[in-house]
Amino acid sequence: MENYILITGASSGVGRETAVRLSHQHNLIINGRNVERLEETKSLCADHSDVIIWSRDLSEVDELESEFAAWLKERRLPIGSFVHCAGELSMLPLRALNVDAFKHSYAIHVFAPAILVKLLSSRKFNGQNLKSIVFISSNISERGATAFSVYGSSKAALDGLTRNLAMELAPRIRVNSILPGGMATRMTEELIADDAFRRQSEANYPLGMGRAEDIAPVVEFLLSEGAGWITGQSLTVDGGRTINLTDGKRI
Ligand SMILES: NC(=O)c1ccc[n+]([C@@H]2O[C@H](COP(=O)([O-])OP(=O)(O)OC[C@H]3O[C@@H](n4cnc5c(N)ncnc54)[C@H](OP(=O)(O)O)[C@@H]3O)[C@@H](O)[C@H]2O)c1
Repeated sequence: MENYILITGASSGVGRETAVRLSHQHNLIINGRNVERLEETKSLCADHSDVIIWSRDLSEVDELESEFAAWLKERRLPIGSFVHCAGELSMLPLRALNVDAFKHSYAIHVFAPAILVKLLSSRKFNGQNLKSIVFISSNISERGATAFSVYGSSKAALDGLTRNLAMELAPRIRVNSILPGGMATRMTEELIADDAFRRQSEANYPLGMGRAEDIAPVVEFLLSEGAGWITGQSLTVDGGRTINLTDGKRI
């Protein structure tokens, strides 16, 4: 249990579930903005695991590289894996689009993970410790939906980052992304509270809507030695939503 796993978005949903699951075998560094919720995640983790809270807003990318570099230098922790779960859903119709909305979404979903990987893969800041990276993308990255231009294109960029980093970092470090479908988490609680939305989703998902618990074991597998020959892949985990052509009706 010497190595640490850095998990962003660990204050709720997929990030929290992943942290709790991985804490049984690994030490963790958990990131989010809300310290109270990060403390709650820590309290749910296995007692024998060392869980360190690194709270920072990842949408503010200008100083991210220098601040994280200083943090790594001060702590000198061997970080073996990186899981980027931090994300923010924005649904913006075309008439409401503006450059700031793109900058904000791309900062969290693309710029921040790229900067974090740059430092974590650097011998100067993390030796040769980093072995595996998993980015949490979304099944929208390969599809299309009204009002999803900002969020969907930023997740598609994250999948592009996955493939390009996988080439640049091979053979030492593997990089993969997971494309979840709709899950009941804090991100979607308002949407799911709407009866019509929930009924439609239930009809569209052959295996039902997802939960954070459906993603955490897949993260664990992609980080493990069992996935040692998998890199540059974007794995859809969405209960069959994106292969469903039955138009919402079950016969
Ligand atoms: N839920 C879904 O239906 C769904 C579907 C497909 C993909 N996803 C993706 O799955 C990932 C996890 O989402 P979730 O469903 O678990 O949602 P969630 O419960 O809302 O979790 C989002 C996490 O991201 C963190 N975060 C958001 N903005 C941040 C920022 N500026 N700086 C640092 N951390 C930030 C939040 O922490 P703080 O609030 O403490 O900052 C929280 O821990 C996201 O990347 C999301 O896009 C979700």
